[in-house]
Parts: sequence; C-alpha cells; structure tokens
Amino acid sequence: MQARFTHRITQLPAPLAAAVAPLLTEHFSGFISQAQLQQLAQQSQMAQDEMLLALLPLAAALANPPISEFYVGAIAIGATGNAYMGANLELNNNALCQTVHAEQSAISHAWLRGEQRIVDLIVNASPCGHCRQFINELVDGEAIRIHLPQQATQPLSYYLPFAFGPKDLNITMPLLSEQQHTLHVESDDELVQLALTQANYSYAPYSGNYSAVVMETHNGQRFAGRYAENAAFNPSMMPLQMALADLLRYNLEAKDISRVVLLESNAGKISLRDATASALASICDVKLEYIQAKPGC
Ligand code: THU
Ligand code: ZN
Repeated sequence: MQARFTHRITQLPAPLAAAVAPLLTEHFSGFISQAQLQQLAQQSQMAQDEMLLALLPLAAALANPPISEFYVGAIAIGATGNAYMGANLELNNNALCQTVHAEQSAISHAWLRGEQRIVDLIVNASPCGHCRQFINELVDGEAIRIHLPQQATQPLSYYLPFAFGPKDLNITMPLLSEQQHTLHVESDDELVQLALTQANYSYAPYSGNYSAVVMETHNGQRFAGRYAENAAFNPSMMPLQMALADLLRYNLEAKDISRVVLLESNAGKISLRDATASALASICDVKLEYIQAKPGC
C-alpha cells in the first residue's frame, strides 16, 4: 500500500478498509471503476452513498496543502458510474488564487478520463462559493447531487440558489460537453502534439484561449491538463494545475517533472503564458516551453 494511505485507511470502517486495501497498490491514482465500487459495497455490506462518504479519507490523502494544512477530499461519480477522487493542491510561494480545490480536482479527473456528465459529488467539507460556481459550469450542473457528512443530500441548486452561470453569457455547451476545436501546429514533437490534442478538448468559451499543458517526467510518464473556464471567470481552472493534480494523484512529485509544454491558441483574447510560467517556477526549476497554435478550418 502507498505510504500516503497507511494512516488514513485506519479511519475507514474495518470491513471497508479490508476490502479497499488491495486497490491501493503503487498504481492507484484515485480512480475506482463502477464494478470495483459494487464489489466494495458488497464486501463492506454498505450502501453505496454511505460507502462513498466513508472513502473520503482516502481522497483527502491525495491533498497537497502546504499552506493551510487543511486536507480536503472529493469524489466525483460520473454517468458511467465510475468514481474519480480529487484533493486540494496549494502552491507554496505563489498567489492563493493558484490553488486547486478538491472539487475541481475530482471534476477535472473525471473530465480527463472522458466523463460527459457528473451525477454525484461527495466532499468532506462544505463546498465553498468558488466551488459551487465551478460545479455550476458543468453539464446539468444544478442537478448534481452534493453529499456531505452529516447532511441530507441536496442538488447543487440548493447550495447555489439564484445562480449565475454559462447561460447568462449565452453558452449552451457547458463544461464536460464535447469540445472539438480545430487548432493545428506544425511540429513532430510528441509532447507538442499531445498538448494540441488536449487543447482541442479544452473549454474556453469566454476568452477563446483554447489551451493545454502537458508534463513529462524523468521516467517518461506524461500528464495533461486542459484549460477549463468559468462564467464568473475567477473560478476557472488552469491547465498547469490540472496536469499537476493528475501527476500528484499518481503519487509522483514536482521534482519528477522533466518537461512542461503550454500550447495555446494564437487567436484568444488572453494568454496563460505568464500565469503558467509563474506557477511552474513555484514548483520546480523546469523552464516552460511555449507553443502558439493556429485555429484551422
Ligand atoms: N478547499 C477546498 O478544497 N474545497 C472547498 O470548497 C473549501 C476549501 C481547500 C482550498 C485550500 O487549499 C484549503 O481548503 C483552505 O481553504
Ligand atoms: Zn472550494
């Protein structure tokens, strides 16, 4: 079992701890398939909702909060029934607005793995206003069921009444709906091509800054993050943070990173170059590689 779980697993009911322990191998990255969830429910004799709340200490074990030391864990359940864990991530020596919240981490985890809708979100602390706004950007966001310890399950619309969202800015294809942009770039660098593919899936309806970050580690593993904008702008999630959150879920560290590429459209109203270089400089010494891509036909 990975060291980060050995203490946390003692907080689970014993039958659930015994059932989940075999999943926590060195390859575990916070993903539990629907079939595995069913098996866990059977072995632990727990109802799924109760079991997901009980699994939150494992999601919180994925957190990196050097500033607050407050460990938040979240689990997003997709329409496929699969579970995606996420946790908060704070960047030392940088602005607090560079933080990733656990809910954003879990949702982006699901998005990167191809989920097109999220139906449940389980969190160990009440989602802050910024997260409620982030969740409201998603397909059928207002209907997503929010599960909290000691609270009756309620849809997001209960936690975010009189919501402002993508519809107010005339966006009809919200976050998680299939984005297929047409950026192109001439390069035979595999990392650049990977960043291009991911940027074409990115969600940037407000600025047109279709963009993505791809990181490579010294042993050749690759992690991608796509830009995810928000109608209220500030809760947007940056691609570097999305990729870093994924790398950390795989139990790697910033010092394992050998290359980082940011690719963005040359036709957007903004650029993420400076903010991304700043965030990167606060986690490691790798220099940001920067590529501009052209919108195609
Ligand atoms: N945090 C979350 O991850 N989700 C919330 O909705 C509440 C706050 C994190 C952000 C920061 O890393 C720490 O908790 C303190 O605010
Ligand atoms: Zn939050």
